[in-house]
Amino acid sequence: MKAITIEKFGTADTLTYTNMNRPTPENNEALIEVHATGINPVDYKIRNGDLEEVFPTQFPKVLGGDISGVITEIGSDVSKFKVGDEVFLSAPLDQNGGYAEYTVVHEKYLAHKPNEISHIDAASLPVTGLTAVQTLRDFSGIKKGDNVLIHAGAGGVGSFAIQYASHLGAKVFTTGSAKRYDYLKKLGADVVIDYNKADFVEIAKEHGGMDIVLESVGGDNYLRSLEATKAGGKVPSITHPPGEKEVKLAKSKGIKTDFFLLEGIPSDLDEIAGLIKQGIVKTNVSKVFTFDQIKDAHNQIESGRTQGKIVLKVK
Ligand SMILES: NC(=O)c1ccc[n+]([C@@H]2O[C@H](COP(=O)([O-])OP(=O)(O)OC[C@H]3O[C@@H](n4cnc5c(N)ncnc54)[C@H](OP(=O)(O)O)[C@@H]3O)[C@@H](O)[C@H]2O)c1
Repeated sequence: MKAITIEKFGTADTLTYTNMNRPTPENNEALIEVHATGINPVDYKIRNGDLEEVFPTQFPKVLGGDISGVITEIGSDVSKFKVGDEVFLSAPLDQNGGYAEYTVVHEKYLAHKPNEISHIDAASLPVTGLTAVQTLRDFSGIKKGDNVLIHAGAGGVGSFAIQYASHLGAKVFTTGSAKRYDYLKKLGADVVIDYNKADFVEIAKEHGGMDIVLESVGGDNYLRSLEATKAGGKVPSITHPPGEKEVKLAKSKGIKTDFFLLEGIPSDLDEIAGLIKQGIVKTNVSKVFTFDQIKDAHNQIESGRTQGKIVLKVK
């Protein structure tokens, strides 16, 4: 089968086209013909070697956790899915993923793809949707009337999180550059903060502080997100764990904060599929790359300037 692999850590130039043997599913696994795979910042971070401690890599490595495709073979113990089912999933990142014509995955990660959308759109959802739902609902207990600040609202996670928080009745604040204003308002943001001109901490304070901040920028932004948060608020960080300063400030204000890593839970994917079916959340694929454009796709996601999601069309 055709695949894109890395044989060592490095720049986008390490991504190599190759032929590999098609994997065979174990008893609890399904073989999936990959139609599309979402490109995420975690892909280039694994490619660089930056996440080696979190997701140990075996070479040759096939990247790609966001997958949409069709089951073509199942192991003897697979009970909830059959050959021909269209599925979407967030695959575990220490295994081979979706930058290939086929991949195998344990049944416990699979969910039925919503019929209403294409594989391209479905592949844009798992990582961003699961992150948004699990940080806002599970970590933060979001509720109607909460002041919620979604950083990097125009990015993959932000584009889903704004729609989700708005649907749940939160007052949604978001950070983005000026050119994203219309896009962010259309997603449902109530207050758009141009991070190049305005201080989000000041604006948060003018509104009595945030109940929840989805911290997705990292560095100094983490401490400042805690400054923007009310006593007793919640600050899930999806880029890195809190340092000493963050822990101290969070403790003094009674803020719940920690690094949060998404889990590929199928019932959450079913919930995401439901939000799509009801038209509550819309997908936002800004560019589709063909299989031979993988380096361009990696350079785009690594720029940190992607609007919505980018997806690699595999079939
Ligand atoms: N822990 C987890 O489970 C988990 C899950 C998913 C993602 N993540 C991490 O979360 C981060 C965001 O992921 P993503 O997929 O949303 O990334 P992304 O799609 O690449 O985000 C790009 C967006 O970020 C905006 N941005 C850049 N710098 C900003 C700043 N200082 N303030 C506000 N907005 C800014 C850009 O808007 P402008 O062009 O307008 O600046 C752009 O639209 C990444 O580091 C990713 O690895 C972690």
